[in-house]
Amino acid sequence: MEDTVTEAVRQQYEAYSYPPPIEDGEKFLKKWGPLTCDPKFAGIQLWPEGRPRQDLRILCAGCGSSQAALIALNNPDCAVLGIDLSETSLAHSKRLCDRHGLANLELRQMSLLDVGELNRRFDLIICTGVLHHLPNPDAGLKALADVLDPSGSMAIMLYGKTGRAGVYLVQDILRRLGAGRNAEGVRIARELLKFVPSNHYLISATGKLPHDLADDAGIVDMLLHPQDRAYSVPEIIKFVEAAGLVFSGWSDNALYCADRYLSGEMLERVLTLPPAEQWAVVDNLTMLNDRHDFFVRKPESTRFLTRFDTDDFLSYVPHIRSGVRLAGDVNSLVLTRPAPQGEVIIPISRSEALMLEQVDGKKRISDILSHSIFTGSEPDKRANFARAVCERMWRSGHVLFGRSGS
Ligand SMILES: C[S@@+](CC[C@H](N)C(=O)[O-])C[C@H]1O[C@@H](n2cnc3c(N)ncnc32)[C@H](O)[C@@H]1O
Repeated sequence: MEDTVTEAVRQQYEAYSYPPPIEDGEKFLKKWGPLTCDPKFAGIQLWPEGRPRQDLRILCAGCGSSQAALIALNNPDCAVLGIDLSETSLAHSKRLCDRHGLANLELRQMSLLDVGELNRRFDLIICTGVLHHLPNPDAGLKALADVLDPSGSMAIMLYGKTGRAGVYLVQDILRRLGAGRNAEGVRIARELLKFVPSNHYLISATGKLPHDLADDAGIVDMLLHPQDRAYSVPEIIKFVEAAGLVFSGWSDNALYCADRYLSGEMLERVLTLPPAEQWAVVDNLTMLNDRHDFFVRKPESTRFLTRFDTDDFLSYVPHIRSGVRLAGDVNSLVLTRPAPQGEVIIPISRSEALMLEQVDGKKRISDILSHSIFTGSEPDKRANFARAVCERMWRSGHVLFGRSGS
């Protein structure tokens, strides 16, 4: 049964390579910037303590048509291995490899379930949009965990249950209509989409059909897939733990930030919950997350998790996330930045703004607190003030936290 499903998945990606292939990686990176799983973009989130080595060994598991090539192109000092079931997708990746002369990219047609047979270890494993297509995603994550170096980090993307509610309703209709993964199935799907009402869960917050439905490969990937499941926040945490791994953070906390969607009594109540429960509440409430992008590590790296329930946070080195700016007027300051689901706007006080002004990506929180503007107050009061500011900025994703010496 599992083999039949895997074969159906392979055939789909042979016929409808996804994401749609790109012609020129340099132009792509110039236009869109690095992928969010790129170590040049997500370095602090992958390794708050600093990357384990300059010449990272990177595995792109289920690399599709371009991901491994884009990572290799943007990280010439790293060795990238891209594996995929689909020969068609690998051929597109190979074209990019040849076009850009990527000597640091190796491509192999194989299942990620067999990656252990290579007898290799990786510092970074990227697996986005793949595990939810496996008949047994747990076995897939376990296979990847087995080849992750103890100091390594993994970037994963899984479908989100709440944001994809409409996708599963439409998939169900198409199954009843007998739409297959072929030109006729795509035609039937396009016909059906003409009748999707504006209040349907498939319609995005901007009032439009998801952008992915613009081309045939996107329609097949989203609406006609033979194997696809989605996850709630608690299911993700369970999934990670079942593989003996540790959840180390979201790619962007703003999508799970209670301060962004609640206020007053409700916010106070939700903030008394542990972080994972806060995230679950927000995910259920907003129904915006059609995907979850997150990082996981091995238990050996647990000490590098960002947390504020001890005084260890005083040694963290805060970094303001790119795109964040101070706005508003003296009486109502906000920190804001653009994000896929709208601006992330968090009100801050003047004293909080003064503290964040000291953040330079080098100073530790304790260094910042030793500045003369803060030394007037008691050490305990100062530390509690810093804890509250940092925790709030961490929740919104406006500030990322590295470790000193990294
Ligand atoms: C939706 S695409 C994602 C591609 C890429 N990771 C990205 O984010 O652009 C899923 C890819 O996973 C591949 N895939 C599915 N099951 C796989 C498996 N067991 N082993 C390796 N690749 C697999 C498919 O062939 C397809 O190219």
